[in-house]
Amino acid sequence: MAQKNITLLLGGRPHEVINFDPTRTLLDYLRYDAARTGTKEGCGEGDCGACTVVIGTLKEGKLHFEAVNSCIIFLPTLDGKLLLTVEDLVQPDGSLHIIQRAIADLQASQCGFCTPGFVMSIFAHIRSGGGADLASINDALAGNLCRCTGYGPIIEAVRHSISAQVEDHLTALEETWIKQLAAMSSPDTLSLSWACPDTGNERHYSAPKTTAALTALYAAHPEATLLAGGTDVGLWVTKQLRSLDRLIYLGHITELARITKSKTHIEIGAGVTFADALPILSTHFPDLGEVIRRLGSAQIRNRATIGGNIANGSPIGDSMPVLIALNTELTLQSASGLRHIPLEDYFISYGKQDRAAGEFVAAIRIPILKADQYFRAYKISKRFDQDISSVCGAISVTLNDGIISSARIAYGGVAATPLRAIATENTLIGAKWNETTIQSAMSALENDISPISDMRATADYRLKVARNILLKAYIEYDTPLSQTRLTGDGAQTRLMGNGAAE
Ligand SMILES: Cc1cc2nc3c(=O)[nH]c(=O)nc-3n(C[C@H](O)[C@H](O)[C@H](O)COP(=O)(O)OP(=O)(O)OC[C@H]3O[C@@H](n4cnc5c(N)ncnc54)[C@H](O)[C@@H]3O)c2cc1C
Ligand code: FES
Ligand code: FES
Repeated sequence: MAQKNITLLLGGRPHEVINFDPTRTLLDYLRYDAARTGTKEGCGEGDCGACTVVIGTLKEGKLHFEAVNSCIIFLPTLDGKLLLTVEDLVQPDGSLHIIQRAIADLQASQCGFCTPGFVMSIFAHIRSGGGADLASINDALAGNLCRCTGYGPIIEAVRHSISAQVEDHLTALEETWIKQLAAMSSPDTLSLSWACPDTGNERHYSAPKTTAALTALYAAHPEATLLAGGTDVGLWVTKQLRSLDRLIYLGHITELARITKSKTHIEIGAGVTFADALPILSTHFPDLGEVIRRLGSAQIRNRATIGGNIANGSPIGDSMPVLIALNTELTLQSASGLRHIPLEDYFISYGKQDRAAGEFVAAIRIPILKADQYFRAYKISKRFDQDISSVCGAISVTLNDGIISSARIAYGGVAATPLRAIATENTLIGAKWNETTIQSAMSALENDISPISDMRATADYRLKVARNILLKAYIEYDTPLSQTRLTGDGAQTRLMGNGAAE
């Protein structure tokens, strides 16, 4: 039976939203209905961070705070969540929160348009135990753009807030929020329907809690749009003005949010966000970790899922080439059961994937690297942070006594789909691991890829970069990974470019 309402803790107090368009963005609701205009609108597409708010979610009995872009989040996905906006940080006596005070005292704001977004990103960073080193602060703030102040004072304000703040007036409320959120959780599918007052057209939103419920719903409505983090789908509404009349939200299905590890594999549910996958993936595949750390911003990684990245099938999506080089298997699920395929087989042509009606991406399975396997991955983009790849490439080789016994090479940004470079791999297999072999592979690459020119890069540049990724991986073979990573305050070098071999 369809409902008309959702309940969240807005600013920590139970708040009901009744009879609304399920594709209404959280930002519009805050600004136009809830009169919380401290949250600003800049780009409306997840890029500038002016609309940043903090969502609190109950995970295994604990509250997790995450900064998100309210401009691309659909309102009903807030059901059962805690939502904090910049208005909630003001102290009960009306004085500024310590983060706001630090920004004011250290002149970290000029026009102030970006400031509420920065404040909320800093709040989430501190509440999730974020570090005071430059690399951690850069990661936390890469999704917040300021066009007048300059980042020096803002970074100082973060450091000052971290050192000054142990607890604030919100800390004492957390135990109560945990109890309230636990009481709000329900095992049943949330179903909403809304009739447009102008046209009478109905719009439906369902949020199943189990894969069994999802499978049945999707079989009944194969035309529905699956919604995970919404970092792609949100823009279909805010930028393409598309009308999405039936949404199935995956964000409440705990089975899709699982990460499991065996001796040989890591299995990640399609609904796992990049933020949640980062710790385990960067431990086992440091280069994949580095690519994920540069995927979007903290706000995007807190919402964007691996399943959404794969299902979207964009030729410039970052996870696919790296996962293909790692020999990842994809699990698809539908009313007919489970289907397992190599990830590279999923991408048929531009915008077309091997997914039947009613079938959804359930999980990926990545083999753990073997001792004789060498793996590297590189994201090459114009800006270091918060940018789409011009080329993303990955190589995995198995070496026995200096001979390459197996190779997997994959790229994004060089064809209509994420692509495995089989001809190039064949030049490597059976050959010696030396520069001559790598040069032959670099020459062979044009048999595999046919990049196009667009606003991000020319075809020539892409081919050259794709070749040089192979050379770079070869040159870095003897270099400890720690020396090729941008860690600690050395991360400032990111401002100087991403260092692809030329
Ligand atoms: C500001 C910004 C920066 C970005 N930067 C990057 C970047 O650096 N690199 C990059 O690769 N991407 C980037 N993206 C794109 C986006 O974040 C990713 O593609 C993300 O992984 C999509 O996941 P999602 O959970 O948000 O998917 P959604 O938007 O919810 O869905 C995307 C598509 O997948 C489908 N879908 C979702 N889950 C499933 C499932 N389980 N089974 C079947 N279909 C499903 C949806 O129906 C939709 O077609 C960026 C986006 C924004 C807005
Ligand atoms: S308004 Fe720019 S990220 Fe939301
Ligand atoms: S203070 Fe003006 S945009 Fe940041």
